[in-house]
This record gives sequence, structure tokens and C-alpha cells, in this order.
Amino acid sequence: MAHTPIVVEVQAAPGARTGSKPRPDRSNRLIHGDCLAVMQALPAECIDLIYIDPPFLTGRQHYSTLTESSRAEPYFDDRWPGGIAEYLAWFEARLAEMRRVLAAAGSIYIHLDWRTSHYVKCMCDRLFGYDNFRNELFWRRDVAGKGAKRTSRQWPRNVDSILFYSKSDQWTFRQPYVALDEQQQKVYRYTQADGRRFKTVMLGDYSAASIARMEAQGLIYVSKSGKKYKKYYLDEAMSTVDTIWTDIAGFGTRTASKERLGYPTQKPEALLTRIIEASSNAGDVVADFFCGSGTTCAVAQKLGRSWIGVDVSNDAITIAATRLAQAAKV
Ligand SMILES: C[S@@+](CC[C@H](N)C(=O)[O-])C[C@H]1O[C@@H](n2cnc3c(N)ncnc32)[C@H](O)[C@@H]1O
Repeated sequence: MAHTPIVVEVQAAPGARTGSKPRPDRSNRLIHGDCLAVMQALPAECIDLIYIDPPFLTGRQHYSTLTESSRAEPYFDDRWPGGIAEYLAWFEARLAEMRRVLAAAGSIYIHLDWRTSHYVKCMCDRLFGYDNFRNELFWRRDVAGKGAKRTSRQWPRNVDSILFYSKSDQWTFRQPYVALDEQQQKVYRYTQADGRRFKTVMLGDYSAASIARMEAQGLIYVSKSGKKYKKYYLDEAMSTVDTIWTDIAGFGTRTASKERLGYPTQKPEALLTRIIEASSNAGDVVADFFCGSGTTCAVAQKLGRSWIGVDVSNDAITIAATRLAQAAKV
């Protein structure tokens, strides 16, 4: 069904500008409509970062996830009578428009799961260029199989795939780091007088002058046998976030989370925070063309980015508008 886009203006955008060509009007926008028509009305290269979490080809209608909800109607429909061929044709038309509106130094993250990520990856290699594939992120939504997943005679399907492409060989990326996990911390087995924990590593080929300088800075550990080692402190150690993300819980387990709005397939803000911080700068324009409850836009707002959110569902827009009005007040 064709939908005429309805624009809900939310709040004027913050000032700073970077890579994208300016839209004539840079206010934040929540738009009700089919994202294809919405994107066709946008100028080329006006978005710095796109994150999308489209329908996954689940073959189901998606209902409220709040057990106390009395709502009988689904929030959105993910049934495709023409199967995967219909889904992929529908998706390709929209991905091609996303490429057009993406700034030359922009990036796109496409959130999918085992059902279609492999097909969409081939499609994106064609649309964005094989060389512009940057990563496939694996997000473990829930700790382990629950309920029926425990007895399904296969490994639990509790991991989503997020494909990350740049539009060109120029893109924004700020590497995120996290604290070491318990296992990684164990090797920091020494504690000095001021309580700082450290590990020791053989000195390698430092010059005598460098070793003397490190000694003066307290960075050298001398063993009982008199051998010198370099100290590395636990409080300075961070581990690089790689492509396997297991530290952000989905709402399957966090049913009591205040963040949860009951919108089916709602994603956690922590996931979007990591993506938006890594792949955009303050003042950039972030877009989510399947915005649902508005997670991407709410996080973009909090991080000082401009944003555009689009959804074909009237319910999604109503929920997102309330959420974004709140986020704009903070
Ligand atoms: C997986 S949900 C997104 C959930 C969202 N990430 C969140 O955190 O709430 C997918 C959304 O895509 C929307 N959608 C489906 N077809 C669309 C289209 N052609 N244009 C825009 N939105 C569409 C659905 O209404 C649904 O809200």
C-alpha cells in the first residue's frame, strides 16, 4: 500500500557540520511513510550514517511484547507471500536509495539475522562495492537458548548479524574499547603498595637509556632473581571491541528494563550508542529508515547528532514521537 509521507517535526538540529551535503532544512524529522518514497524525496548524499533494522523475513505479524498489553492488533507485518524473492526485490530497491542518500564518506549498518544476512551481503557487495564491505558484526541478543530453544536439537539462534559498509574508501571510525573481562584481568597478578594491579612483560630490546627512564617512572618490576620486566597496569588496560558483541543484553532477558516500550523487535540503546559513537561525529546526520520505536533517533539525539527516522507504521511513529519528545527535553 502506498503511504504519503507525513512529517512530524521534532526539534531543530544541533549546529556542527561534517561530511554530508546539507539538506536545505536540517531539523530532526520523524516521517510516517514507506521509506522508499521518503528517500526519493531526499537530496543525494545528505546522510552521514544509516542504521537500519528492517523486517527480517520472519513470516509473522509482530505484536506488543508487553504481557500487560491488551492490544490485539499487530504492530507490523513481516509476511511475504512471494517468499524470499519478493523480500529481496523489495529490499534492493530501498538499499539502492540508501546508497544514493548516503554521503561520500558515510557508512551504513544493516541489522539482520540468519534468515537473510547472507543474501543481503551479496546484494550489498553489488550495490556498495565488494571493497566497501567493512565488517559483519555478530550481536548475541540473549545469553543462551530459552524455552523451546533448549530442546530444538540445534544450536540456539540467538545471534543477529549487522553488516557494515562504507560508501567509499573514506569513512569515520572511532575504535571503541571496553574494560577487560574477568579472565583477561587474571593475568594482572601483582599489586603494588598503592593498590594498583599490574602484569609484567619481558623487556625486549629497549635501550639502556629507555630502561633507566622507565625505572625512574616506576614502570620496571625487578624479580627476586634481579631480572627486569616492564609493568602494565590493569587500570590502563582496555580491550578493543571486535566484531563479536556479547556484552549488550537484548530485551529477551531484560523484560523489566525501563527502556522497553513493548514495540516488537525494539533494539537496546546501548547497541545504537556503540554504532553511532564509532561511525559518526557530533552534528552529523544519522538516519534510520525502519525506525520502529525510534531507538536510533533517541540515541542520535542524546549524542548530539541530527536525525531522520522513518516508519510505515502509524503505531511506530506514535510511540517514537512520544519517546523523542522526551529525549529532546533531556
Ligand atoms: C524490526 S522493526 C524496527 C525496530 C526498531 N529498530 C526499534 O528499536 O524499535 C522494523 C520496522 O520496519 C517498519 N517498516 C516495514 N516496512 C517499511 C517500509 N517500507 N518503510 C518504512 N518502515 C517500514 C515496520 O513498521 C517496523 O517498525
